[in-house]
Amino acid sequence: MDYRNKTVLVTGGLGFIGSNLAVRLSEMGARVTIVDSSRPGCGANPYNIASVADRLRLITRDLGEAQDFAEALRSCDVVFNLAGEVSHIHSMMAPERDLEINTAAQLRFLEILRRERPGVRVVYAGTRQVYGAPRYLPVDEDHPVEPVDYNGVHKHAASQYHLMLSRVGALDAVVLRLTNVYGPRMALRIPCQGVLSAFLRRALLGEDLEVYDSGEQLRDPVHVDDVVEAFLLAGAASSLRARTYNVGGPEALSLRQIAETIAQLTGVRVVTRPFPADRKRIDIGSYRADSSRFQRDFAWSPRIRFAEGIRRSIEWYRQHFEHYLDAHRPALCGMPEHQGRQRRLKLVPA
Ligand SMILES: NC(=O)c1ccc[n+]([C@@H]2O[C@H](COP(=O)([O-])OP(=O)(O)OC[C@H]3O[C@@H](n4cnc5c(N)ncnc54)[C@H](O)[C@@H]3O)[C@@H](O)[C@H]2O)c1
Repeated sequence: MDYRNKTVLVTGGLGFIGSNLAVRLSEMGARVTIVDSSRPGCGANPYNIASVADRLRLITRDLGEAQDFAEALRSCDVVFNLAGEVSHIHSMMAPERDLEINTAAQLRFLEILRRERPGVRVVYAGTRQVYGAPRYLPVDEDHPVEPVDYNGVHKHAASQYHLMLSRVGALDAVVLRLTNVYGPRMALRIPCQGVLSAFLRRALLGEDLEVYDSGEQLRDPVHVDDVVEAFLLAGAASSLRARTYNVGGPEALSLRQIAETIAQLTGVRVVTRPFPADRKRIDIGSYRADSSRFQRDFAWSPRIRFAEGIRRSIEWYRQHFEHYLDAHRPALCGMPEHQGRQRRLKLVPA
């Protein structure tokens, strides 16, 4: 993998995974351009790229307005496409917002990208959420696609745009279906970003960690450094043997084990609560990815085990505390547009 002097575009590069990738690419000598609209309710944080800010170009624009930065598309060697909304709960609260972010903006972007830079390699951040509640474990890429929330539906549509455009020779895209990612630069301030963000936020603020019901559901958390490695490999491969890959973590742990590991490191307690109905409805039960296709084709494997990765993450957040957690804790979901939109949506009969 040699990214020296390569021109790369990272969409969503102010967010959690995109910024980790942009920082690493900058350090490797790539010419990095970030496109990020700092969409309220998503994880954009300028501090995420502070260490390399003078070395990269930031375009503060919505992905769907790609016409306005067409010149940046024309020159790029690889596009890492990570702009999106991760929250399943936000997607159920404001489905049209999720459609706009995860699908409509992607469609507009890809239409302009294929015109300005036909055939370019695109690595798209897909999600394991598209599989819904697993019929079997570990989940391979042939598992049926049966999402249980709008986020899964919309992300799947965007994945299909990438795959269709590659089938007809307009782009050269690969979709990485990511499992729960954790590590430095997550948006801990914003609730509803997933269980790992919630556990970290509560633990770092000295609050109890809440596990719903038995907490026996499995997850295979993957450290963001392992995910960045996967994106770099997929971006650099001269040819692709497949276009859809699962990227999961090195081990499956129950949510209770995950909570207890974090609690031990931070001195908080783990408490049991009944599953809130709105969350139960979109819960997928246990999940573990079968990433053997990606491991085989790219000689990759997730190296960072959870106990070590989360210890390092906690240390990192303690050093950068005020940039991720401060006294201004958000009410509701940190989505300014959410309340008005939700009121409007309530008028629609269920
Ligand atoms: N974090 C995870 O565990 C996880 C798991 C599976 C998939 N993913 C996918 O990975 C990608 C990155 O996730 P993340 O955790 O870094 O999220 P994040 O919210 O931290 O970052 C997403 C970034 O995209 C930007 N953005 C959103 N819509 C945009 C638009 N239309 N135009 C320009 N910028 C826009 C936001 O401002 C934000 O900075 C997402 O597409 C997500 O669906 C993440």
